[in-house]
Amino acid sequence: MSLPNQIADCVAVVRQRWTKRPRVGIVLGTGLGGFVDEITAEASFTRDELPHFPRATALSHRGRLVCGVTRQHSVPVVVMEGRFHVYEGHAPEVITLPVRVMHALGIELLILTNACGGLNPDFAPGDIALIEDHINLMGTNPLIGPHDDSLGPRFPDLGHVYDPEWIDRAVAIAQREEIALRRGVYIAVSGPNYETRAEIKFLRLIGGDLVGMSTVPEAIVAAQCGLRTLAFSIVTNSCDTTEPILAEDVVANAATAETNLRRILLGLLEQFKA
Ligand code: HPA
Repeated sequence: MSLPNQIADCVAVVRQRWTKRPRVGIVLGTGLGGFVDEITAEASFTRDELPHFPRATALSHRGRLVCGVTRQHSVPVVVMEGRFHVYEGHAPEVITLPVRVMHALGIELLILTNACGGLNPDFAPGDIALIEDHINLMGTNPLIGPHDDSLGPRFPDLGHVYDPEWIDRAVAIAQREEIALRRGVYIAVSGPNYETRAEIKFLRLIGGDLVGMSTVPEAIVAAQCGLRTLAFSIVTNSCDTTEPILAEDVVANAATAETNLRRILLGLLEQFKA
């Protein structure tokens, strides 16, 4: 089925139970799911309830779509609790369907979050970084495939894929809240393995500060939709270390930084209060 029809099917399911127009869409990455505590959920959809979303497996149930308002200022939002990844075997146009659905529901700003490795030697585990630009080394692209003009341009410009105005606002909020906020270039790889030493050397050489396995497909689709996008990484491990990277440590370090990222996100959402 064509992407426009898939989007329309998902929107129809959401609209049966939730009629508000969300201002902001948020994708919560690894270890960051706690942010849903800040939302009064008015309707929530499992991935199995949403047509064309990848079905839940024994290993992964994440991918719930939560619609509601922020507890603090009643700003209507739509939140993806967890996301889908290329390394799970899903096609890139499938993992980015949630972004197209959020766009069709009417969001004005998309906020992407992830857990990633720090390539920049100044970055330490637990740091929060704002993604200023990216390099797509996933070996694939969510815009490959049949094109329909209703999706946006066939060849979208990615010169400002992360919105400069919203970057400035996020930086100002972090300063006000006295939270150190790093800034850098995120390199997306398919994973699921972590990088070899030679790969880390290469990724640094080509200008990467952060490396991870998500976010870029969603940011590309958001750019095609004409959405303003902000993306935050939590640095969960340093690629400098000679210690092996353990997935458990990645999740634990993400949880530590989550409190600070939560404050920045709330500061951003406050700007939408009525
Ligand atoms: N590399 C790629 N993805 C990651 C990493 C990493 O070191 N840490 C968390 N996600």
